Amino acid sequence: MTVLVTGGAGYIGSHAIIELLQNGYNVVALDNLSNSDKESIKKVKEITGKNFSFYQYDLLDYGKMRSLFEKYNFDSVIHFAGLKAVGESVELPIDYYYNNVSGTINLCRVMDEFEVTKLVFSSSATVYGDPKTVPIYETFPTSATNPYGRTKLIIEEILKDLSYSNMKWSIAILRYFNPIGAHHSGRIGENPKGEPNNLMPYITQVAVGKREKLKIFGNDYNTHDGTGVRDYIHVVDLVKGHLKALEYINKNTGVEIFNLGTGKGYSVLDLVKTFSKVTSKSIPYEIVERRAGDIAVCYANSDKAREVLDWSAVKKLEDMCKDAWKWQVENPNGYKSEQ
Ligand code: NAD
Ligand code: UD1
Repeated sequence: MTVLVTGGAGYIGSHAIIELLQNGYNVVALDNLSNSDKESIKKVKEITGKNFSFYQYDLLDYGKMRSLFEKYNFDSVIHFAGLKAVGESVELPIDYYYNNVSGTINLCRVMDEFEVTKLVFSSSATVYGDPKTVPIYETFPTSATNPYGRTKLIIEEILKDLSYSNMKWSIAILRYFNPIGAHHSGRIGENPKGEPNNLMPYITQVAVGKREKLKIFGNDYNTHDGTGVRDYIHVVDLVKGHLKALEYINKNTGVEIFNLGTGKGYSVLDLVKTFSKVTSKSIPYEIVERRAGDIAVCYANSDKAREVLDWSAVKKLEDMCKDAWKWQVENPNGYKSEQ
């Protein structure tokens, strides 16, 4: 089975390739390296002791995409490639629509032409907007509060239309909650460029001394300690869900949506305390204003993934902290070890 992984040099894509290779899949990866480093590909090969082809191609380059499909007989595609920074998407909406939406359309066009009709797509819990209740079920209404989230919603709609147009398509839309952590080897992990937007990389950069203190965005939410509550999921658990989704789309046509989360909500302070306990590093912090667009509480109901895909997350918050820290402390400058 040969799987094309788009965005394969990125945070989640690189972890997924390890899992695929270790489970006997052949992998071809592509990435334009706009938010990643080719070093991750090298590390994945070292960790697994397996080889695979990597192409520095852009989804928007139809000619190159076609050439890839001419060269390989893909059975399926896992589509991670996309821009993902919420704040940047507000500044650069057209870049986000062009890259994420047009890139996905290009991918689907070339898949259609070469009759590769099995697709796993990375969506996000952001499509639930500010849910009225938690836990969040797949059937909840969707909405978007920023261009990034809207690209995910638009792509979901495009994929549904595609599947309704022709029953040969098998599509799994995976809505991730908050992926954190890293491969247990400490050799690959999340490698944000510049100041991290997300909580865990910020915490690890404070712990390693790259940032002075964490800014906690608000402690007046209606939660057990006033700080925002999220469903943090270990990236390795998350990528295992993709292999289950691949098995599912190999046997079923149509389109299905799955939440990938743990079903447990932890606050910012819960995460800070757990991180400090596990790593013996204290995390200085200050409470600042709420971040625009943030919601109080977000966690999944992942019963559907458990029942239909036979998948559930097993790693604990402690594991997520331990592995995120190992990656950070062993690679204080991410993939750029010489800096
Ligand atoms: P990432 O930025 O590390 O990986 C995405 C990769 O896609 C990058 O390596 C980037 O260079 C590549 N890319 C972007 N546009 C491309 C294009 N036009 N052609 C080829 N490559 C391109 O991000 P990630 O955290 O690994 O996220 C993977 C996917 O999961 C994204 O679609 C993201 O929106 C989605 N997602 C991520 C999270 C999260 O918290 N990390 C949560 C929900 C959904
Ligand atoms: C963010 C994105 C969301 C995306 C998700 C996963 C925003 C507004 N939302 O969600 O679209 O799907 O990442 O990539 O960016 N926090 C701090 N200090 C920090 C960073 C975060 O207190 O420096 C808090 C936040 O207020 C939140 C929690 O930590 O309560 C988690 O934040 P983050 O990691 O950015 O994830 P989300 O906001 O859930």
